[in-house]
Amino acid sequence: MNFPKIADNVWKLGVTDWDRRLFDALIPLPDGTSYNSYLVRGTEKTALLDTVDTALPDRLLEQLDGVESIDFIIAHHAEQDHSGALEAVMAKYPSAEILCSNKCKPMLQDHLGIDGARIRSVQDGETVSLGDKTLEFIATPWVHWPETMCTWLPEDRVLFSCDFFGSHLATSGAWADDPARVYEAAKRYYAEIMMPFRPSVRANIAKINTRDIAVIAPSHGPCYRDPQFIIKSYQDWISDTPKNEVVLPYISMHGSTRKMVDHLVSALSQRGITVYQFDLSVTDIGKLAIALVDAATVVIGTPTLHMGPHPLVFYAAHLANVLRPKVKYASVIGSYGWATKVVEHITPLIPNLKVELLPPVLCKGLPKEPDFAALDSLAASIAERHANLL
Ligand code: FEO
Repeated sequence: MNFPKIADNVWKLGVTDWDRRLFDALIPLPDGTSYNSYLVRGTEKTALLDTVDTALPDRLLEQLDGVESIDFIIAHHAEQDHSGALEAVMAKYPSAEILCSNKCKPMLQDHLGIDGARIRSVQDGETVSLGDKTLEFIATPWVHWPETMCTWLPEDRVLFSCDFFGSHLATSGAWADDPARVYEAAKRYYAEIMMPFRPSVRANIAKINTRDIAVIAPSHGPCYRDPQFIIKSYQDWISDTPKNEVVLPYISMHGSTRKMVDHLVSALSQRGITVYQFDLSVTDIGKLAIALVDAATVVIGTPTLHMGPHPLVFYAAHLANVLRPKVKYASVIGSYGWATKVVEHITPLIPNLKVELLPPVLCKGLPKEPDFAALDSLAASIAERHANLL
């Protein structure tokens, strides 16, 4: 077969979606993405693991032109970017059996209208034989839906992980051979998709990491022939200890809040703290999500608009709340025209963030010496709390 071979009689199929720039009508994809499908051929039977996005079934069907029979189609996850072409593949192989987790079966029926009579649920640890190859199913719930599972191919030590360890990254090659590029894409993917489920991610890493994995083959982005690269990266990201970093998303309408941001960034930098500053009117929210993975503190900079924060601050605060980063401290800075209730509006937006709220710094109009002094005090408070962080 004329497809990248990731192990003996195991091929990477699927679609590299170079030009897609938005996922879920929400997530920016600066580097495109891929929907990976894997063909595993044993001496007796053949399996296809995951399909492709709903919009692209024909691309996968073309790839399967030379494949006479498929006995099993493994659906690791019901979401449409992997199971969207399931019905088309089922039609091409009418005797193929669909294997998925207990929770996935009704989801395939609900979300994709798949005929339940063709689907068999498999248990955690259950195996099917392809002859000289075995597929073992590993329940890995909540990475990132409740029904998600992985497949382990012990003879070749390949872990097919679906979204888990994936990256939205279009590449011409099958392998993650450019670590810096893959690291950023995988961290972005983790931040946007997996971070809200850190306890489940931790439990599932412990579960899969007992195996002697040679290859991790996710269903987005390139495959890892150095599995510990991505496993260790995940272990770092899920750790409960944040880093000596501040994330500062802000908006400025007339420049006053911007002056405060500039001063605070400088004051924090002088104290040895790494700062990530984002102008919310132009920022890529994926970059903001990446910065939130490790930060110990978030400081929101906002002007006052109709007594509350700028609408883009509502959006960013809600996003941070649902992503549940491990931040420990938060504060608000900004300028107002004549009165403000920005703190009262922002605080209820972030109930999931178990943070200590540091005294806000709010000033009327242009910031003046006492306001800059208050920003210096805020920087000192943050530095004190970060004292033991790396
Ligand atoms: Fe890539 Fe959750 O689908």
